[in-house]
Amino acid sequence: MSIRKYLILNGPNLGHIGSRQPEIYGSAGLDSLPELLKGMLGEASDQVELLFHQSNFEGNLIDRLEKARHEELDGVAFNAGALTHTSLALADCLAWIGIPCVEVHLSNTIARTDEPLRQKSLMGKSCVGVVAGFGILGYALAVLALEHHVANRKDKK
Ligand code: DQA
Repeated sequence: MSIRKYLILNGPNLGHIGSRQPEIYGSAGLDSLPELLKGMLGEASDQVELLFHQSNFEGNLIDRLEKARHEELDGVAFNAGALTHTSLALADCLAWIGIPCVEVHLSNTIARTDEPLRQKSLMGKSCVGVVAGFGILGYALAVLALEHHVANRKDKK
């Protein structure tokens, strides 16, 4: 298989995980991601290129996804933060760009019954799957899931 390229995309307020409500989102920061992901990929990390982007702005996230389409990336691991629950624009983008996306959440959004809106995802129907509740590890699980998805897709490169 040729080199696979994945984007790790984070939405609003996720630039501060580690210090933002660690009792909900954990104590690891986004800066720990490259090493964590490399470790989880093991030997395969030589054939994988990881790109990282975080923005607090909905339009910027859409621009980055459109760029990902031009770059012909193989997949996106996307934690859209609160925009998961509210942004029809992001959901519309994922519905057409044709890049496999795994929705990621640090917290188990389904278990957050005290805030029912967090149990809803507008983007979920355009994602190949969801990883939620495993903290920072969720991004690594999402990339492994994308690896599996890419290896098994019918129209292999
Ligand atoms: C989150 C869950 C969202 O409801 C919240 O707005 C976030 C983080 C998570 O990773 O658990 O910002 O996406």
